Parts: sequence; C-alpha cells; structure tokens
Amino acid sequence: MENKLVMPRHIAIIMDGNGRWAQKRSLNRCEGHREGAEALKRLIEGMKEFPEVEYMTFYAFSTENWKRSKEEVSALMSLLVEFLDANLPLFQKNDLRLLVTGRPEGLPEEPRKKLADAIGATSNNKGLTVIMALNYGGRSEIADAAKNIARKAASGELDPEKVDEALFAQYLYNPQVPDPDLLIRTSGELRLSNFLLWEISYSEIYVTDTLWPDFDKNELLKAMESFGKRSRRFGGR
Ligand code: IPE
Ligand code: IPE
Ligand code: MG
Repeated sequence: MENKLVMPRHIAIIMDGNGRWAQKRSLNRCEGHREGAEALKRLIEGMKEFPEVEYMTFYAFSTENWKRSKEEVSALMSLLVEFLDANLPLFQKNDLRLLVTGRPEGLPEEPRKKLADAIGATSNNKGLTVIMALNYGGRSEIADAAKNIARKAASGELDPEKVDEALFAQYLYNPQVPDPDLLIRTSGELRLSNFLLWEISYSEIYVTDTLWPDFDKNELLKAMESFGKRSRRFGGR
C-alpha cells in the first residue's frame, strides 16, 4: 500500500517568472502578469483537493517592486483590483478566507479598498486561508514589529526584558498564522527576495524552473511529494 504523504499545513509561494513567460512569447510583461493571475486563480480553485493545506501565502508585490516602471506598477495594481472583483464569488463558493500580509496602507486607494472589502466579506469562511503578500518586505515586517515593541516599551506598557522570540513573533503582521512548512519559488532563482524572513527559518525550500504562469496543480503535487520525503530536524537529531 502506498504511504500517505506528509502534507504541509502552510505553503508559501514566490510567484516569479511572469516577465520571462511573456518575453518567450514576444508579449508585453503585463500579459505575463495577467496569465500569472489566471494561474493563481486555477491553483486556489484546485486546492479543495488538498484540505490538509490550511494556509497559502502568495508573494504578489514586494516593497522593492515599486522600482519597476510606472506602467508595470499600475498594470499590477489594476490586475489586483480585477482579480479581487472576478474571484470574490469563487472565494465564497469554496469557503476561502482572504488575508493580506505587508503594508496594505501603502497601496493605491482602489486596490486598498477592494482588498479590505474582500477580507471583510470572507472573514468568517472556514476553508483555506489565502494570504496575499502585497507591498510586503520581510525586513519591513521585522522593522515594523520592532517599532511597535519599542513604542510599548517607551510608554512603559512592556518590560524590555520580556522581549523574546515568542513575544517578537506576536508583533508580526499575522501572528495567528503558523510558519510556512514549504516555500516554493518558481522560475529557478535561488534567492528569497525579502520574503517572510522571520517565518521561513525552518521551512523546506523547493525551487522549480517552471515559470509562474505555467505552474499548476501537478507542479504543486511535485513540490508536495518532495516535501513529503524530507526529514525535518529543526536542529535536533
Ligand atoms: C513575478 O514575475 C511577478 C512580480 C514580481 C509582480 P516577474 O515580473 O518578476 O517576472 P520575471 O522575473 O521578470 O520573469
Ligand atoms: C519576488 O520576485 C517578488 C514577487 C514574486 C512578488 P522579484 O522578481 O521581484 O525578485 P528578484 O528581483 O528577482 O529578486
Ligand atoms: Mg522576477
């Protein structure tokens, strides 16, 4: 009999390679992002087959991505609005809960509002939690936590001696979300690009050359199979 796979409870994905996907087809980079949004939708929809996966975090826009051209940034923001509009019914039908990680307050008004509305509308859903990393930077998250801790210490509400790893983690953007078990990066780049620096301390890493718009359920299954064979030691033996 086949052994049952050990499944990750939280999968985090660096959705990279939209630009290269478009370039290979002599299309505009924005066409790659559009196809990337479709891939995201298909993947989320297919997750009902894997109820063991409770959380997925998708890196959609980094604090560094503002360096891209005005046209590309604005296309990405419009796409976010379109994605939320088009897929809210899917979130409701599949009982998906939407969360954000990052500094959503730094997004333009329209996507910021749509995001807040969609988060509110899905807040009581009990299925997969989909976390969109938007205007997200791992260093910003750690700096923001440090700032809030410092404020409390300065006002006398918090004893600096009480600051330890567990307390610090309570000041991250989504303290209730468990750390990712599996981190996937598409398009072959072997770097973290400022993603979830604190949370991925002991995540298993899987990198595939597949470009994000081509990433599908079968690719995810390959990543989960690889995860299932790993021996997670957490520093022990
Ligand atoms: C990932 O694709 C999407 C975002 C960063 C928003 P890229 O746009 O980085 O694609 P490549 O890396 O240029 O192929
Ligand atoms: C990481 O991809 C950010 C997202 C996927 C949103 P990038 O394409 O921005 O990362 P670098 O520039 O290759 O490190
Ligand atoms: Mg890239």
